[in-house]
Amino acid sequence: MSGAAAKEPHVPVMLAECLAALEVQQGRWYIDGTFGAGGHSQAILEAGGSVLAIDQDPGARAFAERLNISKGSEFIFLQQNFRFLDSLAKQSRLAGVAGVLLDLGVSSMQLDMAERGFAFRQDGPLDMRMNPEGPSAAEVVNSYTQDELAAIIYKYGEERYSRRIARKIVEQREKTPFETTGQLAEAIAQAYPPGYRREHPARRSFQALRIYVNDELGALEDALVAAENILADSGKLVVLSYHSLEDRIVKHFIRNSSYLKAESKKPLLASDSEITENPRARSAKLRVARKLSEAKT
Ligand SMILES: C[S@@+](CC[C@H](N)C(=O)[O-])C[C@H]1O[C@@H](n2cnc3c(N)ncnc32)[C@H](O)[C@@H]1O
Repeated sequence: MSGAAAKEPHVPVMLAECLAALEVQQGRWYIDGTFGAGGHSQAILEAGGSVLAIDQDPGARAFAERLNISKGSEFIFLQQNFRFLDSLAKQSRLAGVAGVLLDLGVSSMQLDMAERGFAFRQDGPLDMRMNPEGPSAAEVVNSYTQDELAAIIYKYGEERYSRRIARKIVEQREKTPFETTGQLAEAIAQAYPPGYRREHPARRSFQALRIYVNDELGALEDALVAAENILADSGKLVVLSYHSLEDRIVKHFIRNSSYLKAESKKPLLASDSEITENPRARSAKLRVARKLSEAKT
């Protein structure tokens, strides 16, 4: 995510709602686990909070260097996985924090840059890693068995044609291994029954591969445990998710937690005017919980 190559910086989603939910207090510390271009962090700093910002994408650092840090606030940026946010906070000598914000998924910069390999509408190397360590989407697509691919596409993409798509991928890679997003999007389109194209046929499979390659759901589960652990009494957990798999994990975690109390049963949604200005906000669901000083009965 090099800032220079991104078309537009990321527009923060439900910014006013996130700030209100965090109830930012001057001089207290907040963790922004998904720094991105820093829109949410900047607003917390402007409200007088101090921020420990985390992002696993090395490109986020350039945005961190451009932030305005008001007098009296402190700011730390770490290029790390948010699943370790409690130990990262402790290493930064923060014993308890007043809020943890997670704005899940990928940023517009990551999606807009063809060379990051997230987008099925643009041709680029088949990569999809937020952090350029570990196996890329190309390695998964070219080496996993047909059954493994079908399971990933079904589980993380909720794609009803996962088996047909996996079969097509295996057939195709025997002729030429996949190197680009364009090749994969084309193969998936060929596997799709022609009458069933309500959305781009590759949308769900690309989502599935991205979630798998970045272990997004595993990282979220760990981060929720870590957040519950590092929040001070009355601290706020604020999570923005963009698809049902993520939202379900957040909802169940809060419900089953002994120390977190949901602020509302239903998630908050973006306003119509925000959705008109920023279509990415359409699928956003905001869940907010408060850390209790004593276990729920
Ligand atoms: C939706 S964007 C956040 C945008 C940000 N709130 C803003 O206003 O610019 C999500 C960011 O979280 C990062 N991210 C996703 N999963 C992560 C993880 N497990 N650990 C650390 N960063 C992660 C991505 O690299 C991406 O930059």
